Amino acid sequence: MITDVVVLAAGKGTRMYSQRPKVLQDLGGRPLLQHVLESAGALSHVRHIHVVLGHCADAVRAHFEGWNLHWWLQDGQRGTGDAVAAAAEGFADAQRILVLYGDVPLLQAKTLQEFLDTIAERELGILTGVLQAPQGYGRILRDGTDTILGIREERDCRDEDERRITEVNLGVMILPVAELRSWLPRLQPHNAQGEIYLTDVVTLAVSERVPVRAFCLADPTEASGVNDALQLEAVERLYQKRRLEALMRSGLRVRDRSRVDIRGDFRCGEDCSLDVNVVCEGSVHLGKGVRVGAGVHLKDVSVADDVEILPYSVIEGAQLGQGARVGPFARIRPRSVIGAAAHIGNFVEVKAVELGAGSKANHLSYLGDARIGAGVNVGAGVITCNYDGANKHHTEIGDGVFIGSDSQLIAPLQVGAGATIGAGSTITRDVPEGGLTLSRSPQRYVAHWRRPTKKTRD
Ligand code: UD1
Ligand code: CA
Repeated sequence: MITDVVVLAAGKGTRMYSQRPKVLQDLGGRPLLQHVLESAGALSHVRHIHVVLGHCADAVRAHFEGWNLHWWLQDGQRGTGDAVAAAAEGFADAQRILVLYGDVPLLQAKTLQEFLDTIAERELGILTGVLQAPQGYGRILRDGTDTILGIREERDCRDEDERRITEVNLGVMILPVAELRSWLPRLQPHNAQGEIYLTDVVTLAVSERVPVRAFCLADPTEASGVNDALQLEAVERLYQKRRLEALMRSGLRVRDRSRVDIRGDFRCGEDCSLDVNVVCEGSVHLGKGVRVGAGVHLKDVSVADDVEILPYSVIEGAQLGQGARVGPFARIRPRSVIGAAAHIGNFVEVKAVELGAGSKANHLSYLGDARIGAGVNVGAGVITCNYDGANKHHTEIGDGVFIGSDSQLIAPLQVGAGATIGAGSTITRDVPEGGLTLSRSPQRYVAHWRRPTKKTRD
């Protein structure tokens, strides 16, 4: 049996009040539509995935360049039935289609697979759920013997009894293609919205004795849709909860799973812990025994074993070596490689720096565009002056160097291994290996000096 997936994503998303098309809104670091397409892609025995676009079609398509997808354009928005018809040519030779919505991102492949496996060839399947607050959803109409008769959109409900029905259409359907092709041209926009409803195929199926089977989801929140900023937040919370629970089940220690967000690819070894308000974005890989303090923001970071990241540090595009210690209040910017057992302390900013094993910059420094050897001590307030107003320049510091506090190293510059730079120096020329280098104006003493005094008014 050939099964194709049809994802409806032509909607404008008016209620998002955003320049960005709704299906590209971010959920856990990926666009809504990507979640749907990843679930669809994980299904077995699916032939093609069709995506129906309308609003901002080019922007959406550009985002998924290189994906194996079949794109269809629905011009105008005449309803979900019309949207499916836009892809009809594509699925003409399939036996059945699974219809998904681009704004329903949490459905898992496992659930969809069970649904597909439950519905037989030539049957029509509807994913349903029982909601205590069914507002906004299409209601499942059944007769006295519980046989499904149709789906009624809320706005088209005939009476209170229909509105009180708590079993709803979650929007995912499995449709037999041969029958669907005869149904699609017969759908009429005779409803409150004047739209062509896909859900009306159910009534046609019933009248033609095509079996209709509901697959009721135990947890209907999995089929939550996103129509506005509030629902996007609700779905983000559900997504984060699911993500954290899965990570914690494989051992990640978290102080409060409602106060950690993972927005991308996250992996960790044994005995890692995250304190409250940690945010991880992009790809974050932690080795074993990594401790991440409160309020830490990690983006595209790879961390070796036994690293400690102290509170309120912001680290992006960096590698941290085994046993390194970073923070509190450290900022590490892209292209930085912090060596094993190295220390980056409070109010230290590091950019494109290679810091050797065991080296330390513990207080209030700016280190940019530099290669710093092993066992180097960078004193408080040291600055690599890498920018001359037009270009960036490099600083090279050998192993075992000691840089006294409040020194400025004017790049381009090389500091030889084992050199000592006296505190308060402004270093403008290369520093030889070993020995002491310093540039300091001589200290003076003025004995008979009077402090200025305030003028008195007449
Ligand atoms: C739809 C169902 C309703 C169900 C609910 C579940 C219909 C008529 N109603 O209602 O029974 O309870 O979903 O969330 O299907 N779209 C297009 N082109 C269009 C119209 C819609 O591509 O012309 C896409 C939208 O982008 C969206 C999806 O189809 O991804 C659903 O459309 P929407 O208008 O949000 O349907 P609902 O009113 O939520
Ligand atoms: Ca919707």
